[in-house]
Amino acid sequence: MSETLLFLRQLISRPLQVSAMAPSSRFLGKAMAKELGPHTGRVVEFGPGTGRLTQGILNAGVRPENLTLFEMNPEFVAHLRARFAGVTVHLAGAETAPLMVEKGVDAVISGVPLLSMPMALRRAIMAAAFEILGPDGIYVQFTYGPRPALEEAQLQSLGLVWKQTAFVPLNLPPARVHTFRRA
Ligand SMILES: C[S@@+](CC[C@H](N)C(=O)[O-])C[C@H]1O[C@@H](n2cnc3c(N)ncnc32)[C@H](O)[C@@H]1O
Repeated sequence: MSETLLFLRQLISRPLQVSAMAPSSRFLGKAMAKELGPHTGRVVEFGPGTGRLTQGILNAGVRPENLTLFEMNPEFVAHLRARFAGVTVHLAGAETAPLMVEKGVDAVISGVPLLSMPMALRRAIMAAAFEILGPDGIYVQFTYGPRPALEEAQLQSLGLVWKQTAFVPLNLPPARVHTFRRA
């Protein structure tokens, strides 16, 4: 089955979980991985879907054995395991990452649809990311809205700052990339 067909079938069966019209473009995949390179250590991806951002991470030079994915959809997980040899793929929610990943990760790249989630889950996912990230680690999230999915006060309570690091018009719909770090 083609990647786009797999994505559309999952969008129809689990609309809230998938929450996007189409897989991300390769331009968004590149923008999400722009701070990564062959020098980067361990990377974790949240919500990889069919693997468009995963490909961008590997294209940037991250080694497959240094990449761990968290995806809740079993159809996507089967596809990812077949497509990306050497990459660890967990059938699990992003919020459970601290149970399975050793601390000290360099980057978390996230395609989970935070804006469609209840606020408590959004916060739990970002808190989980910063539990596994090392002191200089970054959390990179794409979004279709202008602002981050957490309010400024919540970001402050987690001790985080953010900035927009890319705008990608060649994506359906156009997307922004936000990068979060410890203040
Ligand atoms: C908008 S799609 C993005 C897919 C892919 N990253 C892309 O950019 O094409 C959101 C993905 O997040 C997954 N997802 C939703 N909630 C999740 C959670 N709590 N933990 C991990 N993955 C989740 C969905 O199953 C889906 O694959």
